[in-house]
Amino acid sequence: MNRVARMTKAPVVGRPTRFLSVLDFDHAQLEACLDLAEAFKAARAARRAHERPLEGHHVALLFEKPSLRTRSTFMIAIRELGGDVIEPPADVVLGGRETIADVARNMERWVSGVVIRTFAQTRLEAFAAAAPRLKVVNALTNEEHPCQALADCLTLREKWGSLRGRTITFVGDGNNVATSLAQAAVMLGAHMRVATPEGFELPMQVRSAVNRIAGFGGTLTVTTDPVEGVGGADAVYTDVWASMGQEAETDARKTMFAPFQVNPALMAQASKDALFMHCLPAHRGDEVTDEVIDSPASVVFDQSENRLHTQKALLAMLAGV
Ligand code: CP
Ligand code: NVA
Repeated sequence: MNRVARMTKAPVVGRPTRFLSVLDFDHAQLEACLDLAEAFKAARAARRAHERPLEGHHVALLFEKPSLRTRSTFMIAIRELGGDVIEPPADVVLGGRETIADVARNMERWVSGVVIRTFAQTRLEAFAAAAPRLKVVNALTNEEHPCQALADCLTLREKWGSLRGRTITFVGDGNNVATSLAQAAVMLGAHMRVATPEGFELPMQVRSAVNRIAGFGGTLTVTTDPVEGVGGADAVYTDVWASMGQEAETDARKTMFAPFQVNPALMAQASKDALFMHCLPAHRGDEVTDEVIDSPASVVFDQSENRLHTQKALLAMLAGV
């Protein structure tokens, strides 16, 4: 029996070697990761000692974009698992002094894992391909944010017991956060709706891939009507209208996305106990109003806390726990 199973009484699952996308996990691995995160969360709350699988290992954080939550929670997670963090400056590491593949081959000689926040997903894939011994984790790319989706699913599981059969609506830009959430929620059997303005839909290849993993009763639908999208939903999720790297489009997007603002009128279309979710940082007054993000329905700081517990579970699984 492996240590995930011992800590959680879960069945033994296959061992993931990297996490570039939610789709690197299968259903059993995703459930096992959430089970293990719950075990780590309970141990931390009780100040109980737990597994330290990173003892004697270094993990590098390579971030090409700003971060509060992801950087902080990975640093805490690595340290609480017994490991050490190094943070080579992003401009030196990924800034073109040498090829990404050469950077990866260097890192492979020093550290056990690398957590990367970068632009195109292809940069992350090139890094991982060049250093197969390294455990590589996606800490956000233009296309995906899989670590966020782990925390989101743990938050929903805590509230509902299971995501199966629940309806989750993402409202706004069909972006990295929407993509990873759709992948994870559908893998866990939820009905995922994504409501975006025309021209900002989830990419077609994302929709096809999500439909291929809809094995546990989950479904994905897209709409350009926010009211139809939110109608009767059990959770309403939004994110910034212009992501990091799209700052020049901020003003143009404000006009196009205005009907997609999550305000009390839009929340009133959802089910009466609907939760409000946001990955943060939030642009209050744009994609969400203060009344909604500060309301009792809002679970945004649970999501933020759960980044820590789910990333501990992820790192432990990658380390072979
Ligand atoms: N949600 C999230 O990834 O936050 P940061 O950009 O602060 O890491
Ligand atoms: N979609 C946002 C998420 C930030 C956590 C971005 O990529 O900037």
